[in-house]
Amino acid sequence: MTGSTGGHVDGRLTGRLIGLGVTGSIAAYKAVELLRLLRAEGADVAVMLTPSAAQFVGPLSFAALSRHPVETDLLGLLPDGRIGHIVVGDTADAIAVAPATAHFLGAMANGLAGDVVTATCLASRAPIVVAPAMDGDMWTHPATQANVTRLRDAFGYRIVEPEQGSLASGQSGVGRLADLGLIVDAIVAAVADRPVRVPEPAARPPLVATAHDADLTGRHIVVSAGGTREAIDPVRFIGNRSTGKMGVAVAEAALARGASVTVIAANVEVPLPRTATVARVESTADLRAALLRLTQRTDGTAGYDALVMAAAVADFRPVAPADRKLERAARLAIELESTPDLLAEVARIAHGLDSHGAPTRRPLEPVPVLVGFAAETGSLERAGEKLRRKGVDLLVANDVSEPGSGFGTDTNRVTVLGADGSRDELPLLTKRGVAERLLDRVALALDARDAARQTDATTAQRSPEPA
Ligand code: CTP
Repeated sequence: MTGSTGGHVDGRLTGRLIGLGVTGSIAAYKAVELLRLLRAEGADVAVMLTPSAAQFVGPLSFAALSRHPVETDLLGLLPDGRIGHIVVGDTADAIAVAPATAHFLGAMANGLAGDVVTATCLASRAPIVVAPAMDGDMWTHPATQANVTRLRDAFGYRIVEPEQGSLASGQSGVGRLADLGLIVDAIVAAVADRPVRVPEPAARPPLVATAHDADLTGRHIVVSAGGTREAIDPVRFIGNRSTGKMGVAVAEAALARGASVTVIAANVEVPLPRTATVARVESTADLRAALLRLTQRTDGTAGYDALVMAAAVADFRPVAPADRKLERAARLAIELESTPDLLAEVARIAHGLDSHGAPTRRPLEPVPVLVGFAAETGSLERAGEKLRRKGVDLLVANDVSEPGSGFGTDTNRVTVLGADGSRDELPLLTKRGVAERLLDRVALALDARDAARQTDATTAQRSPEPA
């Protein structure tokens, strides 16, 4: 973990502090992903939640990801005694309110500062970007439209208009939160003609140092590590060069972040963390059995929250291994058959699909986050297709022929692809560094998964509050 609060050094928002205000819309959970995108653009982000937003998605994910305390209480003070909304209002380069409810638009248009989000906007001279989300009739109501016009024309706010689509009410209409990429673009445009200021750390919002350290508390992470071996005869095998370093680095980092960890160790050559539960396996068939034991539980729950499949699994195995040591001969032909794709099989079970991808049973509850690794030689062109073929959420691709990457090294240069189309090209990092960056994504995906489940449960229980 570094002391820096920004994301990538070459992002469009590097050096900027963005205030992110989240109001009580059913789309509030999408603000977690927006925060991630802003961080990926290099922004330092301070989040404010209205009380109703905090009912949809809790402050912990935002704090862990932004590394700043989350403002929820207008009257609350920062841990260092300063007034949070004034600090953010004074220091932010731009403020984004996403999703913005009809209530926010009305309050803001009239200068009413009854919560931290409106108060911060009122207390700031920074450009303000507003992305409304609400029911279609609320959006087209003359009151809402008049408020939007006032914010845009009289106050100079940038409005990222909602889109057509299905709404929380089950109806279809204009009211869905705009595409997150468009909101990021609007924030980039809002700060584009302003110089990047040298940050004054003392004036900025304080950091929370511990959030990241405990962000996997209560999670069970399964990591496969090493390489499988396929017997030719009782003494010989077909194996691969994997040492297990990458998988062990993920296991150690997950333990340090509070997770309970099971390592499925296939011929690992490095010491295994003592506090992990360890299942030792030899062949692909053993690894499959260990994975299925954890995945296919009788009660339909997943036995873990995330699976990180770092093991190098043999793609071929001898069709008929000899049961006695083969004797020396001038030639030996061994017939090989392909092994099953274990990760794809786990993904099908997790999502309740049959081998053709058709729904066949209930998905696991909750669906675990699945991470694959792809060792490529030459280019990462095939990685996107591999992510889809395997049905995983994240795929860590690396070019093992590149110096400093691959088997037995202590470093790795990887690109993390997401099922959402995201693509993070990480610099050359230690394997522990790669593990930490990967677990940032896993922690976030788990928080987003839980927030979405909570939102679904809330929607099922009661009619949605005003979007
Ligand atoms: N994997 C698996 N079962 C297999 C082969 C691979 O679960 N039989 C997993 C690996 O653990 C890794 C990911 O799938 O997380 C990608 O492995 P890779 O060898 O790159 O992919 P393959 O499916 O073998 O594709 P190809 O050999 O065509 O590159």
